[in-house]
Amino acid sequence: MSTWRIKGGRRLHGSLRIQGAKNAVLPIMAASIIAECETELLNCPNLSDVKASVDILRHLGCQVTRNGDVVNIDSRGMTRNYIPHELMREMRSSVIFLGAILARCREATLSLPGGCELGPRPIDLHLDALRKLGAEISERSGNIYCRADRLVGTQINLELPSVGATENAILAACAAEGETVITNAAREPEIVDLQSYLIKMGVDMEGAGTPTITVRGFKPVERIGHRIMTDRIVCATILCAVAAAGGKVELLSVEPKDFETVSSALKGMGCQIDCRSNSVTLVSDGRLKAGRPILTRPYPGFPTDAQPLLMAASLKAEGTTVFVENIFENRYRQVPELRRLGADIRVEGRVAMVTGVPELHGAPVNATDLRGGASLVTAALSATGETLVFDSGHIDRGYEDLDKQLLSLGADIKKE
Ligand code: UD1
Repeated sequence: MSTWRIKGGRRLHGSLRIQGAKNAVLPIMAASIIAECETELLNCPNLSDVKASVDILRHLGCQVTRNGDVVNIDSRGMTRNYIPHELMREMRSSVIFLGAILARCREATLSLPGGCELGPRPIDLHLDALRKLGAEISERSGNIYCRADRLVGTQINLELPSVGATENAILAACAAEGETVITNAAREPEIVDLQSYLIKMGVDMEGAGTPTITVRGFKPVERIGHRIMTDRIVCATILCAVAAAGGKVELLSVEPKDFETVSSALKGMGCQIDCRSNSVTLVSDGRLKAGRPILTRPYPGFPTDAQPLLMAASLKAEGTTVFVENIFENRYRQVPELRRLGADIRVEGRVAMVTGVPELHGAPVNATDLRGGASLVTAALSATGETLVFDSGHIDRGYEDLDKQLLSLGADIKKE
């Protein structure tokens, strides 16, 4: 894995276009197999997780080509309905293929996804939803077998608004007879993007972005073109980096309401933020103050994925910033590494308390996971001296050329 060498202390200035959203493109790639059709996806980020999805689609028998940010998928020749361990282990979110393969083939076998760096990530809600639609599911030797002679529309009430379970339920429901109503559904913008792709595919559905989603089956079309939405967590990353380092940045072609909670937290810390209809400008003098407590919640609450980023921005903020992580058990893995830079952070269970320090000092640190890695980069930009971020391959799972983007804003960053 590569290492990033960052010399902190430079102000960041400029404007950026932001990549397509990882969490939107992955379920949409899975959805592309529901019907025999050709899909053209624009604004596809070049990420290792997207490559893992391409490998799965090819294994299933689809033809996939990539040209710049355009990915073409032809799912007409799909021949397989199982995904082996070598492909599943690359990316936990490939569990989203379960509902899609079931919809297409009425039978699916997947190697079970294990836990991940954020702690145990159960899939009980995904399986309950598929069972409700008529699937019989069994587990043996690390595989999950899923079969449904018929999928029949039903009422699915999710115990938690899980993003992945909502997506799996939607995908399987596309092939169900009659109407499926999913309640307590996740409301994330990526689910709205999935719905807009599926509607282009001929699916009769509504409600994405609200807690109740209705799916009524589909009349497939042959060709679909879709542009992937902008990545709101990458937007949050850049805003946090500039807030911490100081400077002025304009994010272009973005949907400000998708990351409003992050913008408003940064505003509360003293940044000046100007939101237009599809751009956001942030100005920071790098001297922040602690804001109100940050409680992670399902959308429209504060996103868990942005918690490590805002934490990095709060390390030098005057006063104490309180974080409460409500989504994942193990989402403070960045903390011991941030402490190596001189951060003052106390963790008690789900709560982390960050007391601002006047200076951070560069140090060697390890990226332990995707957003934790981005959090270290953010902190390093506001530290004095040089930081080496090891194992930065984690960052490539979700960021396309983050180093080059920061470099274009004036950061001193080298990828080795
Ligand atoms: C998605 C995102 C991830 C983000 C997360 C929460 C993708 C590819 N990933 O992950 O970046 O951090 O949403 O916003 O979109 N849970 C269960 N049982 C289940 C499923 C989930 O208990 O069957 C729990 C999880 O352990 C977790 C919570 O529900 O505590 C939320 O997880 P979920 O919304 O499912 O996250 P993912 O879809 O895995």
